[in-house]
This record gives sequence, C-alpha cells and structure tokens, in this order.
Amino acid sequence: MANENAHKTVALEDIGDGGMVDLIVADRPIVIFRRGDEVYALDDNCDHTDSPLAGGAVCEYILTCPWHGAEFDIRTGKNLCPPAFGPTPSHEAFVKDGNVYVVINDT
Ligand code: FES
Repeated sequence: MANENAHKTVALEDIGDGGMVDLIVADRPIVIFRRGDEVYALDDNCDHTDSPLAGGAVCEYILTCPWHGAEFDIRTGKNLCPPAFGPTPSHEAFVKDGNVYVVINDT
C-alpha cells in the first residue's frame, strides 16, 4: 500500500465519472470526487453554516455548495467565493487495484 495511514473506501467503479460519493472515513464525513481515474477528497462540510457539500453541482473542478452557492476547488478545498468563510480541508486520495483510498489530513 502506498501509505499505511490510507483508508480503503469504495471501488472506483462505484463512483460515476464526474460524480461524487459521501461517506464516513475514520469517523469523519468525507466527500470523494472522481474525474476519470483521478480522485479527490474533501471534508463534507461548508463552514458557512456547517452543512454538507455532497450533492452540490460540479463543473470541471469547481464544486458549488448546494445550500447558498459558495464555490470550492475540489482538488485543494480552496474557497473561491463567499458566503463560505474559508477553505474546506482536503485529504490525499488515490486509486489502487480499483479501490479508492483516503489519507485523512488531521492538520
Ligand atoms: S452552507 Fe455552503 S454556502 Fe451556505
């Protein structure tokens, strides 16, 4: 395994290309995005009202919060516009043997 702290989550094929899945990883709500064979993981939380990001519209690499429209870069968690106050924590995600792994970033 590439990282002994990596958590095995779902099969890549269980996430449609361009789609997302929300789940709990190490007791933490996470949303995983798929773009082809690439995957990205963010905390499933928008700090505007501490609401989940899962289900928001995604265009290319930009996620729009489903509640009030803040935008985030799914690759980094960077907040691109209000009303969110700041970035959403991002986590390393990778595919190995057809499965998606996430390394929780606790910093
Ligand atoms: S909860 Fe995300 S913009 Fe309001």
